[in-house]
Amino acid sequence: MSKSWAIRIADENDLDAIMQIEHECFTSDAWSADSMYEELTGAEKHYIVAYREDQLIGYAGLNKLPTVHQSEVQTIAVRPSARGIGLGRDLMNQLLAEAKRADCREVFLEVRADNQVAQKLYETLGFSQIDVRKRYYQPDDVDAIVMRAEFAANTKPEPLVLGIESSCDETGVGIVRGNTLLANVISSSMDLHARFGGVVPEVAARAHLEALLPTLHEALATAKISLDEIDAIAVANGPGLAGALMVGVGAAKSLAVSLGKPVYAVNHLVGHVGVDILERGELETPTIALLVSGGHTSLLLVRNLLDDVELLGETIDDAAGEAFDKVARVLGLKYPGGPEIDKAAAQGDPNSIRFPRGLMLPKDMEKHRYDFSFSGLKTAVARHVEVLKTKGEEIPVADVAASFREAVVDVLVSKAVNACVDHNVPRLLLGGGVIANRRLREVAQQRCEEKGIELRIPALSLCTDNGAMIAAIGAQLVMAGRAPSGLAFGADSTLPVTTVQTL
Ligand code: KG4
Ligand code: ZN
Repeated sequence: MSKSWAIRIADENDLDAIMQIEHECFTSDAWSADSMYEELTGAEKHYIVAYREDQLIGYAGLNKLPTVHQSEVQTIAVRPSARGIGLGRDLMNQLLAEAKRADCREVFLEVRADNQVAQKLYETLGFSQIDVRKRYYQPDDVDAIVMRAEFAANTKPEPLVLGIESSCDETGVGIVRGNTLLANVISSSMDLHARFGGVVPEVAARAHLEALLPTLHEALATAKISLDEIDAIAVANGPGLAGALMVGVGAAKSLAVSLGKPVYAVNHLVGHVGVDILERGELETPTIALLVSGGHTSLLLVRNLLDDVELLGETIDDAAGEAFDKVARVLGLKYPGGPEIDKAAAQGDPNSIRFPRGLMLPKDMEKHRYDFSFSGLKTAVARHVEVLKTKGEEIPVADVAASFREAVVDVLVSKAVNACVDHNVPRLLLGGGVIANRRLREVAQQRCEEKGIELRIPALSLCTDNGAMIAAIGAQLVMAGRAPSGLAFGADSTLPVTTVQTL
């Protein structure tokens, strides 16, 4: 069975949620929020959190002493409602992997003498008892059992890769070590585009220029590394807005030259698929991927992430997110339209108006089985609103929003599920900002269950455009021994998805 949670590096924004779990788990001797903050931000500390549907359900921390090749497990906690599912073991395994990466050869921990379950678990992970500290846990007056695990010296460290993403309105810098996410910092220029009702390419490019360095510095600080430790740089060189892409490409090349490190030019869309590695450790293939955002609506068949990605279909006019943004404007709602329509639709009846489903008629399904079209739907909504206005009737915003959302979701999910069934692929991965849509998640879940398809929805911070997904692909290329890209590549606004890396 696949696990129902994902793990990422903790940061100070997790403090409140962590403290809640701390108090739930350690009723008599919880740490204070101040000490926890020190732990989360300390230089040689490595804290991770486990989450399910964007809710924290556990955390664990390691204190590394690399100069003496040792580390200590500082704490591990699993919310009572998430016990008995193997999460504690997963958290411990991740800490041990980090200890190995830091070339620690011994890991120590203390456990309450009355916690037999934990001691048994640690034994199965290679720990054995080396000491007892009498009456260590107060006020309960319980002994601490000191345990130790030993490893052989490190042979092949995983590559530390910095990823840069600037294809649309998000400036993203991510840092990964192998398959592990260390930092994912995003700066969005969305607010600057709000008054235009959509992304303005020139405004986006200028915003990238301003945001790039601060975003880079924040990512390095979050990952607790310096630039000279980086093994390789990855950058999205397409598809996307040409001027916006150029900013990231220029930055990546300058970094590569000044640091003397290799650079990998990576396909943005493949990044959306590869991001799954950061939550699961690997990408299960083959998989169908449905990528929906303000810039793209693509249906992919991924047989192999680095060598075999096929475009099954894409939008022939507007992207799905763009349709949300345009319909929101017709309804007098704010930009970006997706979240606004989602909110309004919650009170509406999705069956009140039957809006057209683009490219779903039998004749369209022959030629455009996996393609999408949203401009007819957008026009139908505009006409519906116009007719009511000329009649002097009030616009039922909630009903229109719900009916429009239902039409988009219906088409997206139907075509994605068709692709899974037709190609006999029991897996569907979602990506892009529109994945935030509540109804889309609901319908996808329901129809995938009906067909026995496993649905993967990465955390929202990894679904929207980000640098971590680009770094993840870069790390895969490095680990597969692929040659770097050289410095001749450029930004390619229409880069085909079959080109995973531009040489
Ligand atoms: O991936 P993303 O953040 O970046 C770009 O495409 O630049 O996607 C942004 C798009 C916007 O069009 C926005 O309206 C849409 O995702 N979006 C949503 C929702 N939240 C954001 N669409 C539908 N429902 C939502 N809840
Ligand atoms: Zn994207």
